[in-house]
Amino acid sequence: MAERPNLVLAMSPDILDLVLPAPLRTRLDELTHAHPVPLTDWNDPATQDLLAGAELLFTGWGCPPIDAALLARAPRLAAVIHAAGTVKGHVRPEVWQRGITVSSAADANAIPVIEYTLATVWLAARRSLGAAADYRTGRYPDFQQRRGADGAVVGVIGASRIGRGVIAGLLAAAADFRVLLADPYVSAAEAAELGAELVDFDDLCAGSDIVTVHAPDLPETHHLLDARRLRLLRDGAAVINTARGRLIDTEALTRECAAARIDAYLDVTEPEPLPAGHPLHTLPNVLLTPHIAGCQGTEVRRLGAYAVDEVHRWVHGEPLQGTVQADDLARIA
Ligand SMILES: NC(=O)c1ccc[n+]([C@@H]2O[C@H](COP(=O)([O-])OP(=O)(O)OC[C@H]3O[C@@H](n4cnc5c(N)ncnc54)[C@H](O)[C@@H]3O)[C@@H](O)[C@H]2O)c1
Repeated sequence: MAERPNLVLAMSPDILDLVLPAPLRTRLDELTHAHPVPLTDWNDPATQDLLAGAELLFTGWGCPPIDAALLARAPRLAAVIHAAGTVKGHVRPEVWQRGITVSSAADANAIPVIEYTLATVWLAARRSLGAAADYRTGRYPDFQQRRGADGAVVGVIGASRIGRGVIAGLLAAAADFRVLLADPYVSAAEAAELGAELVDFDDLCAGSDIVTVHAPDLPETHHLLDARRLRLLRDGAAVINTARGRLIDTEALTRECAAARIDAYLDVTEPEPLPAGHPLHTLPNVLLTPHIAGCQGTEVRRLGAYAVDEVHRWVHGEPLQGTVQADDLARIA
């Protein structure tokens, strides 16, 4: 094995033990000279020598921006390995411009979002929220009123890593789903290979029983589901959003849900958090969760494990698996 590189941790101390529980910490220490305390402030005079020698930055939630000022203090920095999803919050363009490798654990973070979305598709297909609300008022459904998932049309917005995982999960199920896909970066042939039918956004809205949103938050995806497209949804349809709140016009969605025309399952909103007293908190046909679809609690170690595997690959001269290229930033999360 090559000489162990100097590694600096940069993340909120609150999450360190979740990201790097003892066995992962031991692996990291075997692979690198890792400073034990995570940094949260590049300006701390006590850390300047550490930064001057840093070859790898192992980052997580709470990492300060990696900008030109930090790079000037870290002339040996060769790679930023992020133990979480998007790097857009903290990695600035100068990092790529200096030829520093950037890796993210977005693949690992995608897995629970895919599973959470799939679980929600089955809840939505059964119109579970309405059934639960009826049940609370003493109504018990007869057989004619019960809905199932078989044959439901699911519209997937975005063949992102999460969108593709959702499509694969839907097609692996016994429920005989038909899957529509809208994504300007995917051809009809690629969609067919995924097992989906490529349509435009309007046709997806008009033709789906359940619409699930998986595109990144980009200028062109802002309010992708606006008032007009939400009106295209079938009566009784459901919208699932585990992507970002800005992709849906929250107030237009609130109106549709308040009219009991559609149901919504929202892990993300705009704004987030949604203010107390907002109608989405109390509508019986809306399930609102506080951005919990990605890695949570005991699952956070998966992000650390992915990032430690990346460090292993780096140290052994192998290609990284989660590399983020500057050219892709305009179309990725
Ligand atoms: N709720 C959570 O906890 C949680 C966790 C992780 C990710 N997310 C969100 O989930 C979404 C998907 O994340 P990901 O890592 O799979 O994304 P990703 O980076 O893999 O997505 C990139 C792909 O999205 C598609 N895309 C780009 N622009 C599009 C457009 N205008 N319309 C439709 N599709 C478009 C393209 O196929 C592109 O290749 C993002 O919004 C992300 O922020 C949420």
